[in-house]
Amino acid sequence: MYNYKIINGKYGDTSLYDIVPVKAKGSFLIDKNNKHYLDLRSGLWNVSLGYQQEIYTKIANEFNNLLKKQLPYLDNHSFKHPIYQETAEKILKFVGNDFNNIIYTNSGSENTELSLKLANYVNKKGIESKILAFNNSYHGTFFGAMSVSGIDQNLNQLFNPKYGNVTFIEYPTSIDNENRILEQINSISSDYDVMFIEPVLASAGVYATSTEFMNKLIKILHTNNVIVVFDEVATGFYRTGSRFYFNRLDHKPDLVCLSKSINNGITPFGCVCISNYLNSRLQKSTHNMEHFSTQNGNLLGIISASIVVQHYLQHEDKIKQNIHNIESVFRELLTNSGLQYRKQGAMLAIKVGKNQSQLLLKKLQELGILTYLYLNENEEGVSIFPPFNIEPTLLKRALKIIIKYI
Ligand SMILES: Cc1ncc(COP(=O)(O)O)c(C=O)c1O
Repeated sequence: MYNYKIINGKYGDTSLYDIVPVKAKGSFLIDKNNKHYLDLRSGLWNVSLGYQQEIYTKIANEFNNLLKKQLPYLDNHSFKHPIYQETAEKILKFVGNDFNNIIYTNSGSENTELSLKLANYVNKKGIESKILAFNNSYHGTFFGAMSVSGIDQNLNQLFNPKYGNVTFIEYPTSIDNENRILEQINSISSDYDVMFIEPVLASAGVYATSTEFMNKLIKILHTNNVIVVFDEVATGFYRTGSRFYFNRLDHKPDLVCLSKSINNGITPFGCVCISNYLNSRLQKSTHNMEHFSTQNGNLLGIISASIVVQHYLQHEDKIKQNIHNIESVFRELLTNSGLQYRKQGAMLAIKVGKNQSQLLLKKLQELGILTYLYLNENEEGVSIFPPFNIEPTLLKRALKIIIKYI
C-alpha cells in the first residue's frame, strides 16, 4: 500500500513495472540486488543520451553554483537572469534560423496548452477555435491536449465537450492515402485556425509519412492561413536521425514543441519555439494574453537544458553515428524476421498478437530488458527507443531475445 497514487486506467498505486531502481549507468537501470535492466525506452524517451556521468557532473556543478548562491529559483515573469537569455540563444541556435523566440514551459502537455493559446490569440477566424489534428496522435493529458490527442478520444469521452472544435484527420499509411488526405485537408482547411502535428506518431507505434506529404501539408495549411504546430516532444533531439523532424522539410512549422530529451529528463522542462513570422504576428496582437506557471523560469530546469543542448552541439557527429548504428541493428535483425514492424531513426515498433503486449513486457522485464507498449485502434505492440549511447552488440543481443519471444 502506497500513499502516493498514479492515475493510469485506475486511481491506484500499480506502476507498469515492479522494479525499484536505485542507480543507473550507461544504458542500464540497476536495482538494490544489482540486477541490471537494459533501458530500451530511454526513461520514457527522456534519457536519449543515456545515463551519462559526464553530463551529470556538469549539471551537478551548475546546480551547485546556483545553490551556493542560494538561488535555485526565480520566475521569469518577475525577474531577468542571464541564464534565461543565454539558454534561449543556445536552444534557438540549435533549432535553426526559422525560429527567433521561445517560451519556457514545464512539460509536453503544457506546450500543447500554450500552443493552442498562441494560435488562438493570432488566428481565430470564427467564434470558436477550429483545429485540425491526426487520428492516433498524442499531445499530452492536460485539457488542451485531451482535445487534440486523437489516440485518447475514447479514453477521455467523459470530458466532452472539450476545448475547441477539433476535426481528426486520418494519418496516412500509404502514398495513395497521402494524396487523398491532402485533397481532403485542402478542401476544408480555409475554415481552420491551427493544425497540431506529431510528425511521427510515436505513442501510437511509430507511424511516419513521406517527407513530400509533410511538405505539401504545411504548404496547404499556410496557403489557407492555418498555423502549423509541430509537436516534436518525442521526435526532437535526433530521435528520428536529424536534430528535429522538421529539419528535413522545405516548409517549416510556425510553432515547435520541445521537452523530454531537451534536458535528458533531469527536471520537468520544455519550451515552445516560435517562428519569426508568428513572433511578429504575436507582437502585433492586441489581445490581453496570459500563460503562466510558477516553475516556468526555474533556473535548475533551464540550466540543465542549456548544458544538455551544448552537449548535443558538441557531440552531433558521434550521436548521428550512434543512431546510424542503431538503425543498422534494427535493419539487420528485422528485415527477414517475418514480423510486422515500423521504424524511424532510433524508434522501433513491433506488432504483437492481441492482448500479448503486457505479457511480453513482463517476460522481457524478467530477462532484464525494459521496453514500452503501444496500443492503437488497429494493433498493439512493443516500442523500442534505445538510448543513443547503447553498445550495438548489446542492442543486438536484446533485440534477438525480443524477436524470439514475440
Ligand atoms: C509527442 C508528445 N507530445 C506531448 C507529450 C506529453 O508530454 P508530457 O508527458 O511531458 O506532458 C508526449 C509524451 O509522451 C509526447 O510524446
